[in-house]
Order: sequence, then structure tokens, then C-alpha cells
Amino acid sequence: MRLQGNTVLVTGGASGIGRCIVQELLARDNTVLVCGRDPSKLQALQRELPQVKTLAADLSSPEEVERLAGVLLKEHPALNGVIHSAAIQYNSLLTDEDYAPQRIDEEVRTNLVAPMLLTRLLLPTLLRQGAAFLVHITSGLALVPKTRSAVYCGTKGGLHIFSQSLRHQLRGTSVRVVELLPPVVDTPMTQGRAEGAKLPPEQVARELMRGLERDEEEIHVGKVKLLAWLQRLAPGMAARVMSRMAFIPPLLLLAGG
Ligand SMILES: NC(=O)c1ccc[n+]([C@@H]2O[C@H](COP(=O)([O-])OP(=O)(O)OC[C@H]3O[C@@H](n4cnc5c(N)ncnc54)[C@H](OP(=O)(O)O)[C@@H]3O)[C@@H](O)[C@H]2O)c1
Repeated sequence: MRLQGNTVLVTGGASGIGRCIVQELLARDNTVLVCGRDPSKLQALQRELPQVKTLAADLSSPEEVERLAGVLLKEHPALNGVIHSAAIQYNSLLTDEDYAPQRIDEEVRTNLVAPMLLTRLLLPTLLRQGAAFLVHITSGLALVPKTRSAVYCGTKGGLHIFSQSLRHQLRGTSVRVVELLPPVVDTPMTQGRAEGAKLPPEQVARELMRGLERDEEEIHVGKVKLLAWLQRLAPGMAARVMSRMAFIPPLLLLAGG
């Protein structure tokens, strides 16, 4: 994939991994559009990186996703890349007494329905471009889940399978489907957790660029390489390691946030 001269939407591009990806794309002379929920974070990004075009949308709402797609189709007909980075994670147990059931809907809509719906709505435009790409950011937890954050793990596992199926559908077209699987990364999402065991988000963004340049379909970052290998060769052991992870903090390195 040529990484210059593209027009790329990065959802969740005002924070964490998404923000580092925005910087990598700008450094390679791409037009970068960033979508986020919090207008003040988008304004701060715009001040720091004036080349970026920001679009506020709450992706947990399918109506907002449709509105965003409408704006993109109308105002950015050259759009040829979408990087789905926006997501939330409730780091809790379903058995927690204070677990609010409405969190399930919010997490599934943001992490799974939004990328699926936005992809569907933007596909006609992407298919018209000479070369286009979709990047789904899942996690090591899409391969082997941890004990906490069951809904988050479910959304990442769902997005992993969705990416594989969509890749089959789009084989032979101009649209490539790429999955990025990071381990635990030092971003606002993992604040207060796994201290000392987190990868810098800049490294994840660099590995994405390298993977895209090499036309990789699944980009395993850091210790996710080891987790994927363990899961293939000894799935029972991988499951045991990850289910006990909460009690063995160094093993957090294997997983994803
Ligand atoms: N951090 C990790 O350890 C880790 C590991 C593996 C995979 N990942 C994945 O990497 C991606 C980026 O995560 P991160 O760690 O960089 O998280 P982050 O710093 O918390 O950033 C998440 C971004 O998603 C946006 N977002 C959340 N809900 C949204 C909504 N309803 N509508 C629009 N935007 C919304 C946020 O925007 P606002 O701030 O405006 O709400 C924020 O910009 C996610 O897909 C995550 O699952 C992270």
C-alpha cells in the first residue's frame, strides 16, 4: 500500500493510538480527517495539527454514524482509507453489583456496530478508488480473552471475525481489509492499569505504517505475536494464561487493552 497522497478518516484520532496514527499519516503527506466525540479534544487537536480536518460525531449512535457518512461522501469524495480506532472499554466484571446494564449497549454500539455500519456506508466510495483500505483495530484479546471486560473482549473478537469475512468478500477489489492487534498500550483507555507493562502508542502507530507498507493483512504488535503463536500451538495454555492474567500482572504484556 502506498502511504502518501491518501485521504484517510481516523475515528478516535484525537487520543491515544489514533492520535499517533494521525501524526504518522500527516508526516507522509496524507489528507487526514479525524472523528471524535468530545469537541474540546477535537479543537485541541486542530490547534496542534492545523492540517487536520475534524468532524464531531458520537459513534455509539447509528444516526450519528449515518450523518457522519453523509458528510464524508459529500465533502470528501477522494476518501480512500478508514482507520477504525474509536472504542471504549469498561474494565469491570458483569458480576459487579454496580455494573450498569446499559454499558453493554454502549460498548457494543461503539466498538462493533459503528465500524461495521460506517464501513458499509462508505464502501461504495472506497470501491470507486484505485486503491483503498480499511483498518480495524482489535486487540490481542480478540484472539484470547481476559477475565475482566467481557463485553469489550466480545466486541474485539466480533470485529476480528468481521474483518476476516469482509476480507473474503472484498478479495479481487481495490479495497484491502487490515486488522491491527496491539497488546496493552499506554493510552487514556488503560490509565491506572498494567503500569510498567504498556507499549507506547507511537510504536503501535509505526508498526501499523510498516505493516501497511508491506501489505500485511493481520498486524500483530509486540507480545501479540507470541500470544497468536501460543493460541495456535497450545490453545488451552493460552486460555489459562489469559484467564489468570488479573492475578499475574506481567502476563498483561501478552494481551490487549
Ligand atoms: N490501549 C490499549 O491497551 C489497547 C490495546 C489493544 C487495542 N486497543 C484499541 O485501540 C484503539 C484505540 O484505543 P486507545 O487506547 O488509543 O483509546 P483512547 O485513548 O481512549 O481513545 C479512544 C478514542 O475513541 C473515541 N471514542 C470513544 N467513544 C466514541 C464515540 N462514541 N464516538 C466517537 N468517538 C469515540 C474517543 O474520543 P473522545 O475522547 O472524543 O470520546 C477517543 O478519541 C481502540 O479500538 C482500542 O480498543 C487499545
